[in-house]
Amino acid sequence: MIGKLNHVAIVVPDLAAGSAVYRDTLGATVSDPVDLPEHGVTTVFVELPNTKIELLHPLGEASPIARFLENNPAGGVHHVCYEVEDIEAAAERMRKAGARVLGDIRIGAHDKPVLFLHPKDFCGTLVELEQA
Ligand code: CO
Repeated sequence: MIGKLNHVAIVVPDLAAGSAVYRDTLGATVSDPVDLPEHGVTTVFVELPNTKIELLHPLGEASPIARFLENNPAGGVHHVCYEVEDIEAAAERMRKAGARVLGDIRIGAHDKPVLFLHPKDFCGTLVELEQA
């Protein structure tokens, strides 16, 4: 069912420092920071030939990643995002498999429908599915 790896999201305590690591040390193409207030994050997009890395930093009081950064002050991998053709069918398949779907299908940071899956059902990793 899952297709391409769309992105890996990494929470960082310092976006400028994280950008410098990917741009200067690793030699990747790195965007300027983009505020996504409706998602409670500021994001830097790192473009790789076959996928993207998203550096995330909390934005605002109710950021969904604030607690992650409290628990992981040095930052860390937050989720992986796989593409699916049909998000409704994917949600149904996950529920039938007994996997926990977190909340409802919503519009994600790329203006496409996404859903999140519980890390305890997916090898300890928060999984995002995005309708490509
Ligand atoms: Co994501």
